[in-house]
Amino acid sequence: MAAEAFVFDAYGTLYDVHSVAARCESYWPGKGASVSQLWRAKQLEYTWQRSLMRRYEPFSSVTRAALSYACAALRLELEGAQVDALMEEYTRLALYPEARAALSRLRGKKAILSNGSPDMLLPLVENSALPFDAVMSVDEVKVFKPAPEVYELAVHRLRTEAIAFVSANCWDALGAKSYGFTVYWINRARAPIDRLGFEPDAVLTSLDEVLQ
Ligand code: LAC
Repeated sequence: MAAEAFVFDAYGTLYDVHSVAARCESYWPGKGASVSQLWRAKQLEYTWQRSLMRRYEPFSSVTRAALSYACAALRLELEGAQVDALMEEYTRLALYPEARAALSRLRGKKAILSNGSPDMLLPLVENSALPFDAVMSVDEVKVFKPAPEVYELAVHRLRTEAIAFVSANCWDALGAKSYGFTVYWINRARAPIDRLGFEPDAVLTSLDEVLQ
């Protein structure tokens, strides 16, 4: 089945979440990368925990909470103004270098399906000036990836099941595969695959390869 639409994950796939590390480093010298890593890890953990507890909160709240946890765990002082500035950074994350050209070469509908709540995701997409036919947020279904309801949202919104889903987050790629999409896992770090009993249709090292 030829893909009628390409659906992309946002954070970690198109946009580099660790572009916040520079500002973290300016606040906490020597600790920028650790804050960024722990912040991202906790952000994801909270989404999974909240989904299982059925206690959805928008990704912006989850992201703030994860930052607070990361700083507490690393014994770092975190001020309100720093939270605001780092959340602002999240609306200006760097695009992966190949993203813009790779997207422009793809034919068919292009969309984002992200955990990001509209208050974070829409300014990010707008600031990056990437052209998408749809920007879909889990906020519509009030549960996070990899819940099947999220992937189903893309089918309903794009009115096609011929979706190729692209994610650099292995758990997201496998969630989409479990749901039934054709899946490309962008494995930039050449990490081992998660042992969940699903395989992506292709493992790629950059967005450029989606075209092939
Ligand atoms: C997203 C997270 C998974 O954009 O990175 O949905």
